[in-house]
Amino acid sequence: MSTIVTFHSFRRGVGKTSLAVSLAALLTLQGRRVALVDTDLQSPSVHQFFGLSEEEIRCTLNHYLWNQCDILATVQDVNLRLPANGAGKLFVVPASGRIADIMRSIRMSPNIDRYASGLEKLEKELSLDLILVDSPAGLNENTLQTIAVSNVVVLVLHPDKHDFQGTAVTVDMIRRLQVPVVHLILNDVPDNLDLEDARRQLKETYHCDEGMVLKHSEELLTLSSSWPFVLKYPSHPLTAQIGELAKLLSPPNTL
Ligand SMILES: Nc1ncnc2c1ncn2[C@@H]1O[C@H](COP(=O)(O)OP(=O)(O)OP(=O)(O)O)[C@@H](O)[C@H]1O
Ligand SMILES: [Mg+2]
Repeated sequence: MSTIVTFHSFRRGVGKTSLAVSLAALLTLQGRRVALVDTDLQSPSVHQFFGLSEEEIRCTLNHYLWNQCDILATVQDVNLRLPANGAGKLFVVPASGRIADIMRSIRMSPNIDRYASGLEKLEKELSLDLILVDSPAGLNENTLQTIAVSNVVVLVLHPDKHDFQGTAVTVDMIRRLQVPVVHLILNDVPDNLDLEDARRQLKETYHCDEGMVLKHSEELLTLSSSWPFVLKYPSHPLTAQIGELAKLLSPPNTL
């Protein structure tokens, strides 16, 4: 059975898509078969990291959820765009960036049973090791339902009081859903913050499985969501840290 990892945050813009995309690329380079699914139907962005244009994407997760296509028809094989990666494969399931589709998504709740069976089919037909799900920020009924079908949640937050408070509520909700593993990632931390202290605070506040602190990176900001950071900067310290998280999600000895 593949591991379903959902990336979530209490607030918008804290770096969850950037992290999910980098982790998907790293895990693929390490030989994993990975699907990256964009469930942020109101603000989709995963496709942009792989240079997938609206024109080349015919079917999206939206169309699948609206019963307009099979889940396999939504899969974008991006492996030719990646460096040679042996047995590893990365498949992207994009959400639609078309304004009419986004408007329709705002009006309609997704069918969660159909979503769950879509993931199941992806896992089986593509022989996946991991499914990484990029979810919208904030708590609502739909997001909680997609989180409930995950084995792992990666919660991303900024070093900000409002975020710390909102994330505490989110962790509580996720625990009630009995998701087995929750990792907390404090992201975009300025240089003048004591990283060890921040990490300790994170673990003590949330009693999470793992707490990680990622520093602000001008290189990541400048890349402006155009390509996975870890592929552009393989020797960067941030890439090494993301590698540690990749090990937690899929230990090397399980290949
Ligand atoms: N560690 C970091 N250092 C500098 N910039 C970062 C860092 N992490 C993310 N960013 C930048 O922050 C912005 C938001 O990142 P991203 O889109 O990944 O966040 P998000 O949580 O997915 O946002 P949304 O909630 O809108 O989906 C991007 O411009 C990204 O490049
Ligand atoms: Mg995002």
